[in-house]
Amino acid sequence: MSTVAPSTPSPHASPAGTGAFLREFLRDPLRTASALPSSRALALAATAPVPATGDPVVVELGPGTGAFTDVIAERLGGRGHHLAVELNPRLAALLRARHPGLDVAVADAAEL
Ligand SMILES: C[S@@+](CC[C@H](N)C(=O)[O-])C[C@H]1O[C@@H](n2cnc3c(N)ncnc32)[C@H](O)[C@@H]1O
Repeated sequence: MSTVAPSTPSPHASPAGTGAFLREFLRDPLRTASALPSSRALALAATAPVPATGDPVVVELGPGTGAFTDVIAERLGGRGHHLAVELNPRLAALLRARHPGLDVAVADAAEL
């Protein structure tokens, strides 16, 4: 069973993550849909259903700079499979660089 600390520093909240998000929002506000990444508090709440045991498959839609990705990875602790589906290739590349073990698909979630 994994535990997730509310105060663990999260790379998505770094100036680099926030800057990348804002840049993509200015480039394409409708698709990016937010000027800033989600907070760690929201990520903790939204990812609570990730099973604490077994080898779950987690499909994350629109990971952006990885606010939820970080917490999902902490909850999984190396178990199961985590697939992130991101439409924006620049954000997908950022995510790949930050999470080398993550399965990142540059794709439209609507076509899953
Ligand atoms: C509001 S942001 C949320 C990012 C992140 N989950 C967070 O909470 O900080 C929405 C994200 O979904 C991506 N996105 C928008 N439409 C998408 C689609 N059809 N398929 C996959 N990703 C999409 C955007 O590029 C952006 O990264």
